[in-house]
Amino acid sequence: MLYSKVTSIEKDSVIMIYNQIDSSVWDRIKAAALFLSDNDLGPKVESINDETMTIVTEKVNVFSDIAPPDGVSAKQARDAIDRSVNKLHDAGWVHGDLAISNIGYRGDLEVIFFDYDTIHRVTEDIPEWFRLWREEFFDETDVAYKNVIEYEKTALYNDWLDF
Ligand SMILES: Nc1ncnc2c1ncn2[C@@H]1O[C@H](COP(=O)(O)OP(=O)(O)OP(=O)(O)O)[C@@H](O)[C@H]1O
Ligand SMILES: [Mg+2]
Repeated sequence: MLYSKVTSIEKDSVIMIYNQIDSSVWDRIKAAALFLSDNDLGPKVESINDETMTIVTEKVNVFSDIAPPDGVSAKQARDAIDRSVNKLHDAGWVHGDLAISNIGYRGDLEVIFFDYDTIHRVTEDIPEWFRLWREEFFDETDVAYKNVIEYEKTALYNDWLDF
């Protein structure tokens, strides 16, 4: 990705500032933020500023690298993640960069996703930027949505989820 992003966490909000971003990419990222927010699949968008290329969202809980949240079993967490992943796919979207660091939850384990950089609605043809992204960061040689979706449904994301 040619642009840069700075994420800062405040008391109740998260501020993401995008630098040197093309307007088409900015439009895609805003669409992803609003889609996730509207469908309880992402943090609630509090504001978007087109002048400063800034998105402010609700702050939620993040999953830890090493253990499920207190009082939650690995299986419960895994099931909750699977439910939200399926909901995202059923709506016709993919995350594109699913890892535990991009998954959070609010309240009673309502799983949501962050990191809007690669989240987009599936189209008939894979967009060039996404093909290049998967080739570079996921070592895929023949990038296809079918495989991306399969990966997102079955990848373990993290050791503590691997049980
Ligand atoms: N809405 C949110 N609520 C709580 N924490 C958040 C939220 N959004 C982002 N974060 C935290 O900020 C981190 C970085 O955000 P994001 O994933 O958008 O940026 P990134 O540059 O891709 O970072 P990384 O390389 O860690 O994925 C996340 O891994 C998460 O810990
Ligand atoms: Mg991230």
